[in-house]
Amino acid sequence: MQGMELIRHRRSVRTFDGRALAAEDAADILAFAGTVENPCGIPVAWKLLSAKADRLSSPVIAGADTFIAGKIKRLPRAEEAFGYAFERVVLHAEAKGIGTTWIAGTMDRPAFERAMALEADEVMPCVSPLGYPADRMSLRETLMRKGVRADSRFGFHELFFSGDFRTPLTPENAGPFRDALEMVRWAPSAVNKQPWRAVVSGSEVHFYEKHSKGYVDARGWDLQKIDLGIAMCHFAYGMEQAGQTVSWTVSDPGLGTERDVEYVATGRV
Ligand SMILES: Cc1cc2nc3c(=O)[nH]c(=O)nc-3n(C[C@H](O)[C@H](O)[C@H](O)COP(=O)(O)O)c2cc1C
Repeated sequence: MQGMELIRHRRSVRTFDGRALAAEDAADILAFAGTVENPCGIPVAWKLLSAKADRLSSPVIAGADTFIAGKIKRLPRAEEAFGYAFERVVLHAEAKGIGTTWIAGTMDRPAFERAMALEADEVMPCVSPLGYPADRMSLRETLMRKGVRADSRFGFHELFFSGDFRTPLTPENAGPFRDALEMVRWAPSAVNKQPWRAVVSGSEVHFYEKHSKGYVDARGWDLQKIDLGIAMCHFAYGMEQAGQTVSWTVSDPGLGTERDVEYVATGRV
């Protein structure tokens, strides 16, 4: 599976069938993660962990023992870097039929951070289980999905704009960006808030973050910037499917925005 089919098939998998992750799948995912680059050039250190051996737990995950976790230096733009890189790994796993769920909150964080040997200048933003999806979701998973309306997304014209924020973009008018932006639309985000916004201008697509309250911590770490990295990953992945490479710059075009909307990066093809 690849392309739009892969993006639309992916969902957070929280109920697994209990089988151990095959050694070759584990090795392949870890090797792939080691090759992943991100637009910010900040390296991510990856590790596979075992819930049993490393004494880890996440109350929302059932039937999986293996987790993948990544850590990164606490630098400017580390959130986007991590989001981009981790989502590449998520899509790679999905293509192999391996289920994932981004987990930033619902886990025994101290235990995971210990297992990752986290240093003072590092962050372990998220982890994910790796395993084979169960045939049926647990009741808890079904309720969780309902709670965040996980099967729905904002409309294309609510997220994407043409030239400026006053002119909504429709799929019909999105030209070569249509599919890649549709893939952005279906990306996963924390509490399904979908904070990404984008303005298409010629061969450039400017990405913005629409802030929700409560996602920036006391040290300035912004969980929703991880979502922006995920959006950038889906955009780059979508353009790659059409044979195009996206180059990324940070150069604010100075379009008028609402107060809670922040420029993040520009993708150019
Ligand atoms: C940065 C980030 C953090 C998340 N943290 C959690 C979490 O702590 N627990 C959880 O159950 N799901 C978590 N999720 C999963 C989202 O709830 C999920 O992606 C969203 O509801 C959309 O559903 P879908 O992934 O099935 O499309 C997180 C997702 C992202 C991107």
